[in-house]
Amino acid sequence: MSISQDEFKQALRRWASGVTIVTTKAGDGQLLGMTVSAFSSVSAEPPLVLVCINQNSTSADAIIESGVFAVNILEAGQADLSGSFASSKTPEERFAEAQCSEGVTGAPLLDGCTANLDCALVQKVQAGSHWVFVGEVQAVRSQDGAPLLYFDGGYRNIQQ
Ligand SMILES: Cc1cc2nc3c(=O)[nH]c(=O)nc-3n(C[C@H](O)[C@H](O)[C@H](O)COP(=O)(O)O)c2cc1C
Repeated sequence: MSISQDEFKQALRRWASGVTIVTTKAGDGQLLGMTVSAFSSVSAEPPLVLVCINQNSTSADAIIESGVFAVNILEAGQADLSGSFASSKTPEERFAEAQCSEGVTGAPLLDGCTANLDCALVQKVQAGSHWVFVGEVQAVRSQDGAPLLYFDGGYRNIQQ
């Protein structure tokens, strides 16, 4: 039984998620990052998370080479930043719009996020067009704040 790509995409639009920016630091010191909604917690002991990253993205090879990445969970007011990190802007242009500091792994942690998970890459699985990267969380930072959500092709906020 096979389904069309349209049917697949239509069904996936019904899935509401948070929005993250996954960042890393390339070997030459360049900061890289991209918007990622395919994020999940995997295990608490040890603390593992996963992200699904297109193999053609600028960050994919850099994450494999550096062996580190950070998951920056976006706050409700960061929709523009999400847009920039999913656009044709260069890494320099993207990071010019964000304040960040270096995590213990060397990956950049973006300011103003509700949480930052600083990870060492411990496993990678090739799945279709994407890599599934599993990271062991080395350090976390979290603060109160409403999350940025993505649903049916658009950004949403929680109505409370
Ligand atoms: C809300 C949103 C969620 C996204 N989620 C993912 C994702 O989970 N995995 C992925 O590979 N790309 C995802 N993308 C697309 C990438 O952010 C986009 O293709 C980005 O430009 C890739 O980085 P690059 O231009 O540096 O290669 C998402 C885009 C948006 C707007």
